[in-house]
Amino acid sequence: LLEWCRTHRADNPVHYDERQRSWQVFRYVDVAEVLGDPARYLADLGDLRPSNPELDLMQRGNFVNMDGPRHRMLRGLVSQAFTSKVVTALTPKITTLTGELLDAVADRESFDLVDALAYPLPVTVVSELLGVPAEDRPLFRRWAEQLFPFNEEDSNVAGTQDAMDALIPAVREMIEYFRAQLDRRRARPADDLTTRLVEAETAADKLTDDDIIGVITLLLTAGHVTTTALLGNAVLTLHEHPEAAARLRTDRDALPSAVDEVLRYRPSLPWLTRRTATEVTLAGQVIPAGDVIMPWLVSANRDEAKFRDPDVFDIGRRPNQYLSFGHGIHYCLGAPLAKLETRIALGLLFDRYREIAVVDDEFHHPFAMGGAKSLSVAVVR
Ligand code: HEM
Repeated sequence: LLEWCRTHRADNPVHYDERQRSWQVFRYVDVAEVLGDPARYLADLGDLRPSNPELDLMQRGNFVNMDGPRHRMLRGLVSQAFTSKVVTALTPKITTLTGELLDAVADRESFDLVDALAYPLPVTVVSELLGVPAEDRPLFRRWAEQLFPFNEEDSNVAGTQDAMDALIPAVREMIEYFRAQLDRRRARPADDLTTRLVEAETAADKLTDDDIIGVITLLLTAGHVTTTALLGNAVLTLHEHPEAAARLRTDRDALPSAVDEVLRYRPSLPWLTRRTATEVTLAGQVIPAGDVIMPWLVSANRDEAKFRDPDVFDIGRRPNQYLSFGHGIHYCLGAPLAKLETRIALGLLFDRYREIAVVDDEFHHPFAMGGAKSLSVAVVR
């Protein structure tokens, strides 16, 4: 994939791909331009997305695929829950959860890091944030699993109708669950995001239950597998760079910039999608209105015109303006949370184990997801 991106950056940085039926964009400047100009490059793919009643209902709150005032309104409400204060306050909780997950494999000399930690941690943190009771977490985890159909190797950019139809039972179940949950929070408010969304609804008279359920689904799908991939990528990349791991063990202050560098080096999402609102000219190519654009984050992050020695993993890299969380008005709301989870997880792994070696791995299809399905580690206490 990296070689393929490099060739395209050099030879045809913006071109139409017949198979994907979309424009592929490879250079940093062009990817940043697409993401930074929401008036010309829309996040809403419109009628290209498969549709069914359940999914359409959830799309009402799925603001990552929206443009204009409604995106602003929904993002504004949810962003209150992701202020650095709120996120930092989650530190003790995330530390406890991470500790519990590692306790469960404490007597093992090898385990699957994805199964044990990288998979369950992010979904548990999102359910904490939303105030989902601990006993319902397995449900939540199952929905998260079913709602992100990233395993299809040849899925088209908008997802296939069959894949979407297969989600219906899980979606129905989840909608029912959250309708009840919203009623509970209305009757008895708690200090969680669900309550804040319910209260925002009454204050502004704008959010319906369906909107809120859509927002919750977005958090679940956007915040889960992406962070799972990051956690696995952090462990794998440090395994490949033992000198960086050794430095981090003694200099924990270097953790934040190391996590940033993992994100640049191995972005969880290889590409995003946009659709042109009007005819545009990008890197000399004239692109008609209504066409689909795929900006390749994994390529932008390795662009030699932007990063010095882009293929070197440098935990002290500064500046490090990678695009793994996107750019512009849709910039990831969960970025501080994902980074915090990763810092905490790495810190606890270092505390518990003198050595952590990756002995086997299985990756998702590299065009679908930049992360491991499983990562066997051998550990020494
Ligand atoms: C948006 C990546 C974790 C919530 C995005 C976007 C990217 C991204 C690339 C922009 C999509 C676009 O422009 O089309 C990631 C990565 C993560 C991560 C790589 C982990 C390593 C999270 C977490 C949450 C979250 C933990 C919340 C629990 C969101 C939301 C949006 C978003 C709500 C939509 C923002 C908007 O449209 O205004 N994320 N994300 N993400 N992310 Fe994340």
